[in-house]
Amino acid sequence: MAKCTAVAAANIALIKYWGMQDADRVWPTNPSISMTLRHCVSRSTVETIAGNEDEVLYLSDDGVPAPADAEFAAGVLRHLQRMRVLADRREAMRVATVNNFPTGAGIASSASGFAALTMAAAGALELQPDAPQLSRWARMSGSGSAARSILGGFVQWPGDAGDPDAPAQRIFDRGHWPLRDLIVVVDREPKEVSSREGHRRALTSPYYSVRQTLLPRRAERVRQALATRDFRQLAEAVEEEAIDLHLIAMSSRPPTFYWQAPTLTVLHAVRQLREGGMEVCATIDAGPNVHVLCTPRDADRAFDVLCDLPGVVQVIADEVGSDAHYDRSHLI
Ligand code: DP6
Repeated sequence: MAKCTAVAAANIALIKYWGMQDADRVWPTNPSISMTLRHCVSRSTVETIAGNEDEVLYLSDDGVPAPADAEFAAGVLRHLQRMRVLADRREAMRVATVNNFPTGAGIASSASGFAALTMAAAGALELQPDAPQLSRWARMSGSGSAARSILGGFVQWPGDAGDPDAPAQRIFDRGHWPLRDLIVVVDREPKEVSSREGHRRALTSPYYSVRQTLLPRRAERVRQALATRDFRQLAEAVEEEAIDLHLIAMSSRPPTFYWQAPTLTVLHAVRQLREGGMEVCATIDAGPNVHVLCTPRDADRAFDVLCDLPGVVQVIADEVGSDAHYDRSHLI
C-alpha cells in the first residue's frame, strides 16, 4: 500500500478568475494571474487501502478532527474517484487533510487543498505526472485556482491565454520580486456564497461583458509591473481588478456582497498609507478578508497599522512561496 503526503500553498489572485466559459471542463472565461504564498499551506496525505470506500479525515491546524465544508468534502470524494480513473486503479483511499489558516474565508483554501490532494493522490496511485499535468488535474477538482497552486512564484492560468485547457505557467519565479502579502482577516467564518456559485452568477451581471473587454490590457499592465518591479503600476491595476470582481459580484443576479464593514475600513487605511508614501495595495478574493500586498521595505509598518484597525481579527504575514512538493511528514 502506497502512502504519499504533499504540501501546497494558497495563492492570491492579482487578476481574478471569475466566471467559466465551460463549467464541466472548468474552463475559465479569462486568464488569471496570481502570487503563490509561502506560509498558508494545505497538507494532504493519501494512502491506498483495502476495501471499497474512501475514508477522509479533516483535521484542524492543531491536528484534531474538524468538520469539513460540505462542498469541499463532496469535491474531495469526486476528485479521488477522478484520480482513480486516471490511474486505472480500483483501490479505495484513506485521506487526511489540514490547512494551517482559516478555511473558506477568502484565503484560497480549496486551491491549496485540492493542489495538495491531487499531488498526494497521484503519488499514492503511482502516477508520475509533470507539473503541467498536475495543474490540469488539480483544475478538474472544480477549484480552478488549484491549477495555480501547483507552481510557486507568480503564475498565470491558463498559461496560454488562447487555450482554456492549458495548464498554469510560472511567469516569474519567487526570487524575482520578494513581495509580501499581509492577509487581513476580518471574519474567520466560511463565506456564504461559494466561488462555484459566484462563477455561475458572474455571467448574469450586465457589466460582465465590459469586464472582459478591459481584462487583456489590465493583465498586461500587471505582467509589465511585475517584470519591471513597478509597485505603483501594480497597485493601480491590482486594486482596479479587485473592485471590478466585487462590482460584478454585487451586480449579479442575485447579488453577492462579500465585503463587510471592516473590509472597507481596511481599504481606506491602505489608500491612506499609500498616499503617505508607503508601497502597499489591496486585493480581495471571494470573501471579506483583504490581502494587502507590499514591498519588504514597508511590510512591518503596514502590519502594525493593520493590526490596530477596528474589526480586524488577525493579520497573517505571508510572502511569495514555492512549488507544491512531496513531504515525508505524514498526517496518518
Ligand atoms: C475570487 O473556483 O478556484 O478567488 O478554489 O473556492 O477559491 P476556490 O474557487 P475557484 O475560484 C477562485 C475565485 C477567486 C479568484 C481567483 O482566485 O482567481
